[in-house]
Amino acid sequence: MASSLPSAPEFGAACPITASDETLALLARRRSSSAALLRGSAPSADQLQDLIRIATRVPDHGKLAPWRFVVMRGEAKAALVERLRALAPGQPNPDKASATLAKLTAPPVTVMVVSSPKDASAIPLWEQQLSAAAVCTLFLVAAGAMGFGANWITDWYAYEPQARGILGLAEGEAVAGFIHLGTPAEPPQERDRPDVQSLISYL
Ligand SMILES: Cc1cc2nc3c(=O)[nH]c(=O)nc-3n(C[C@H](O)[C@H](O)[C@H](O)COP(=O)(O)O)c2cc1C
Repeated sequence: MASSLPSAPEFGAACPITASDETLALLARRRSSSAALLRGSAPSADQLQDLIRIATRVPDHGKLAPWRFVVMRGEAKAALVERLRALAPGQPNPDKASATLAKLTAPPVTVMVVSSPKDASAIPLWEQQLSAAAVCTLFLVAAGAMGFGANWITDWYAYEPQARGILGLAEGEAVAGFIHLGTPAEPPQERDRPDVQSLISYL
């Protein structure tokens, strides 16, 4: 696989902290793209490998790697959507359930990030799940830095028991997120952001 990233440091190598104004500028303005508006140019197989490599450089209490990835694209993805669509009539709001599948259909590539906790571990389940969420966040940031639009979504089929079976989720596993990837048909617009000061208290 051809990677455009610097090689990973050897185990035990010094990893100096390097300030990056470019990274801060990217983070300060980062924005998700609407999944239904993702089209065309998407990460190649090599770029996906790079994105997953970056996304797994997250804090992971106990070094358990309690996550796994399923890449969805092309005919296999289309077939998956049809199997999920067959479940829509049985959902509480069938029309909405079918319509929301557009978010899975439109993006050329979707990566399902699965929280896959290690049962026998002493590390609390919550912390293992938090690490999966961190993977999703870093995935979004890296995809943006690579020039792609991305969106983190779950939707009904992440939870519905039959859909879970179709997605190949084992007991105890959960969809941390579907990371949809592509090129937005139009630039995302800024959304409401919280008043940060109101969220901070001091001891
Ligand atoms: C765990 C999780 C699940 C989400 N699931 C959905 C979803 O099912 N449908 C949806 O429209 N947005 C969902 N979102 C929100 C999208 O990611 C949304 O586009 C995002 O909040 C945009 O904000 P940003 O630009 O700050 O990234 C989810 C977010 C998270 C963290």
